[in-house]
Amino acid sequence: MLQEVGRAVKERLGADRFAVPKSREWAYGWPMRAHPIDRPADLDVVRESYDRVADNYADMVVTTGIGDIRRDPWLKASIDAFADTVRGLGPVLDVGCGPGTVTAYLAERGLDVSGVDLSPRMIENARRLHPECRFAVASATELDLGEASLGGVLGWWSLFNLPRDVLPQVLALFAHALKPGGHLITATHVGDEDAVRTEAYGGVPVRWTTHKWRPEQLVNLIEQAGLNPVAELRLPPTEYSGPGLVVMAKRPE
Ligand SMILES: C[S@@+](CC[C@H](N)C(=O)[O-])C[C@H]1O[C@@H](n2cnc3c(N)ncnc32)[C@H](O)[C@@H]1O
Repeated sequence: MLQEVGRAVKERLGADRFAVPKSREWAYGWPMRAHPIDRPADLDVVRESYDRVADNYADMVVTTGIGDIRRDPWLKASIDAFADTVRGLGPVLDVGCGPGTVTAYLAERGLDVSGVDLSPRMIENARRLHPECRFAVASATELDLGEASLGGVLGWWSLFNLPRDVLPQVLALFAHALKPGGHLITATHVGDEDAVRTEAYGGVPVRWTTHKWRPEQLVNLIEQAGLNPVAELRLPPTEYSGPGLVVMAKRPE
């Protein structure tokens, strides 16, 4: 049975490159890590919340362009710089890909990219909108990524729900999974507080915490994970969102 699931995942994602263990527990069709990251206490509640907003979120991106990097020249420039940097280095994984907007953008630019997301409904939308791309359901905290298996990894507006003590563990996993010279790009919300959301994307009831980070705090965490920051972009608040931050970082050669 496990071998069958393993084959299915390999077919879906197109390669052996994410270690598929012969016997191990599975979570949402993805092999669990040999050395688990602490499971966030609210993971199920966060997943259910994103499942509830997934259709509205995908609809928002498609119909208004909000959340689509093509609409924001600075976000687009960041992703373009990331794409140009990691092209040819190896597979790229978009962690917390949502409806797959950035995954598909990178695939269009010739990158060997896959997307994973905690929310099965987000992944259904990603597959519907971008049937040419590879997607799987998985939490950032439950990925089994081989050492030096990736040219690039994204945590694009998708790591802010991780508790403050869990984010460093996920960044360390990303650093371990990147090849020397490979790059991480992450975007997140800036601030000091933990903001509890009770509704989102058109009044849908949700329950998640947005852990905001001060730029220097996040950059320190990325450095502590063993990556060298190469660029930082600070974004002022807009009518849709508070202040944000993009950081790109490299695993040393
Ligand atoms: C604001 S959306 C961003 C989606 C996408 N990156 C984009 O830019 O359109 C946040 C996404 O992070 C996902 N997410 C939250 N916690 C996650 C986790 N622990 N592992 C994987 N994905 C997660 C959510 O399901 C949701 O799809």
